[in-house]
Amino acid sequence: MKIVDDFLTTDEWESMLKTCEIIVDLYKRPDTRGESPEDYSGNTHETLDVYEQWKTPYPPYMTYSLEQIQQCRDVLFKKKCWESFLQKNCEEVGNIVGKPVTPTDIRVCKVEEYDEKDIELNVRKHEKFGYMDNVPHVHLGDDLVYSSVYYIQNPDKEYGTVIEDETLVYGVENRCLFFDGSKIMHCGVWPPSEEVADYPRYIIAMNFKCQ
Ligand SMILES: [Fe+2]
Repeated sequence: MKIVDDFLTTDEWESMLKTCEIIVDLYKRPDTRGESPEDYSGNTHETLDVYEQWKTPYPPYMTYSLEQIQQCRDVLFKKKCWESFLQKNCEEVGNIVGKPVTPTDIRVCKVEEYDEKDIELNVRKHEKFGYMDNVPHVHLGDDLVYSSVYYIQNPDKEYGTVIEDETLVYGVENRCLFFDGSKIMHCGVWPPSEEVADYPRYIIAMNFKCQ
């Protein structure tokens, strides 16, 4: 596991937040909570990858698989902040695993205001860490070698990532966490709803394979 603080320059970090807000607004799903419970089963990356993009859990946890959005490759990924972000991620992971790598999976995740129904569908309560993803998970995929989580915006560092159900890695803004997501069980910690009402939690989760 490796932690890199001040991962992007302040300008790049601010631009990343703006582009992620745009992505989430552009691709926002209709609210179908309660209509098709099977859509919410799992709430794990591997489940999300099996289903199509729009079958991912609805608010408060919105996730967008960028490789499925053509516009991201054509426009967003050519922006300086994204170029720098992708390059730095691949450099760090390449150094860790000792080989050049490429992303397999780039996901923007936002937690916004939520209610009792959302909690029932998406969240579990941990006695120590509070609300978190309902399923601790690993990322499945034959050739995955490593993963990263970049904390873009977070009401408090307490809402980070729990590793192996006991160790909390703080979700410090502009921090990038690198770990073997295919072997290490992990889980995101959610801020209480009132804290994300005006300040949503945004992260970018990525997986990598060797080139
Ligand atoms: Fe994950």
